[in-house]
Amino acid sequence: MVLVNRKPHNSCLTMAYQCEGKRIETIESISEDRLDQIQQIFLEEGGFQCGYCTPGMVISLKGVLNECSNPTVEDLKVGLSGNLCRCTGYGGILRSLERISEYNKEYVYFTRCKDFLAWDVYERIISDVRNLGPTSAKTIC
Ligand code: FES
Repeated sequence: MVLVNRKPHNSCLTMAYQCEGKRIETIESISEDRLDQIQQIFLEEGGFQCGYCTPGMVISLKGVLNECSNPTVEDLKVGLSGNLCRCTGYGGILRSLERISEYNKEYVYFTRCKDFLAWDVYERIISDVRNLGPTSAKTIC
């Protein structure tokens, strides 16, 4: 699974010539010096075991977030369709989807700040925001 112009595509069914001039993002390109938020949440919630399916899940979820900044758990589940996991029994994956959805509800308040903050600083702010409530969060940035 890769993102072609920010939309998920099966890499095994996409010919190189179809991508000429288009932006390609792989699992390796979405995180440089720290994990992407989706990867971090999968790690914390036990969303994988062997990790074979995880790159496809993460890229698919990135595609959902590129289309919708505040997805519901159902939106995220639909975005994962076609990705199969043979290990986890989906409990950890579903917990991850709930956290991603919750995280992105708060994320919409911080879209202007997120690119400038390290993950741990961002997480601390989000934690403070949870204590303040969403109305107060709107006024922070
Ligand atoms: S973690 Fe092994 S296939 Fe999903």
